[in-house]
Amino acid sequence: MTDNPVSINRAGRPLLPMRGIVPGVPAYLEDVYSWAYLNPRNLALLDRPWVVSAILWGNYGKLLRATLAEVRPGDRVLQPACVYGDFSPRLAAHVGPTGSLHVADVAPLQVVNCRRKLKPFPNARACVSDATDLSGDYDSVCCFFLLHELPDAYKRKVIDALLGCVAPGGRVIFVDYHRPHVVHPLKPAMSLVFETLEPFAKALWTREICDFAGEPERFSWSKQTFFAGMYQKTVARRRP
Ligand SMILES: C[S@@+](CC[C@H](N)C(=O)[O-])C[C@H]1O[C@@H](n2cnc3c(N)ncnc32)[C@H](O)[C@@H]1O
Repeated sequence: MTDNPVSINRAGRPLLPMRGIVPGVPAYLEDVYSWAYLNPRNLALLDRPWVVSAILWGNYGKLLRATLAEVRPGDRVLQPACVYGDFSPRLAAHVGPTGSLHVADVAPLQVVNCRRKLKPFPNARACVSDATDLSGDYDSVCCFFLLHELPDAYKRKVIDALLGCVAPGGRVIFVDYHRPHVVHPLKPAMSLVFETLEPFAKALWTREICDFAGEPERFSWSKQTFFAGMYQKTVARRRP
C-alpha cells in the first residue's frame, strides 16, 4: 500500500487532476467510472447521503444496518473501497474505540476524501491500494457495492483477495446488486442503467458471488436479498 499525496483545498477537499495520470488506477475505472470517482467536482456533488440513498431507491439505511449487523463492536474491519455518504464514519463509530477500521481505495482522490470524513475517528485510517493487493488478518471485511463495478476477471481476483484477508471465524460481507424479481417494477429501469452506465453489473443478476471464488468450500456462505431481490447481502464465513 502507498500513501499517495494529493493536493487539498482549505476545506480539506481534494484537488486532483484526472484521467490518464493517476498511477495504478485500473483501466475499467478510468474508462467507465472516471466521471464518478476521479473527478473532484463530481465527487463534491455525489458525496452526500441523500444521493447514495436516491441511487439505491431509498434502501441505503436498510443495507447499512444489514452490514453493521454482521460486524461486532471491537472488530478489526477492512473496507476495500470508499463509499460516498456516511458509510465509513458509521462503520468506524460502530466498531468503537476498541475496534479499528481500515479503508483502502485505488483512487488517491477518494482516499483523501475518506480521510477527511474519518478525522473524528482515531481508530480509522485510509490508504491507497487496489483491492486485489490487500492482505491481513481482519475479523470482518465490508465490501459495499464494489463488485458490480468490476469486470468479471477482476471480480474473481478481488473476491479471492478479500477472502484471504479474514482469520478463521471471520467473515466477508458483500452487499451489492442482485437479480430483481421477474415482475419487479424497477427491473427495466435498472436494466437500462446497467446497459448504459454499469457494463459489469449484470453478472450479479446471473451468477452467485460464491461462484467467483477460487476455493468457496473454505467458507460457509449465506445470502439475504432486499427490495424484492434487487440487492443482496452475501456473507462468507471462514471455516475454523
Ligand atoms: C465502493 S464502489 C461504489 C460505491 C457506491 N456506488 C457509492 O455510493 O459510493 C466505488 C469505489 O470503488 C473504488 N474502486 C474501484 N475499483 C477498485 C479496486 N480495484 N480496488 C480498490 N478500490 C476500487 C473506486 O475508486 C470508488 O471509490
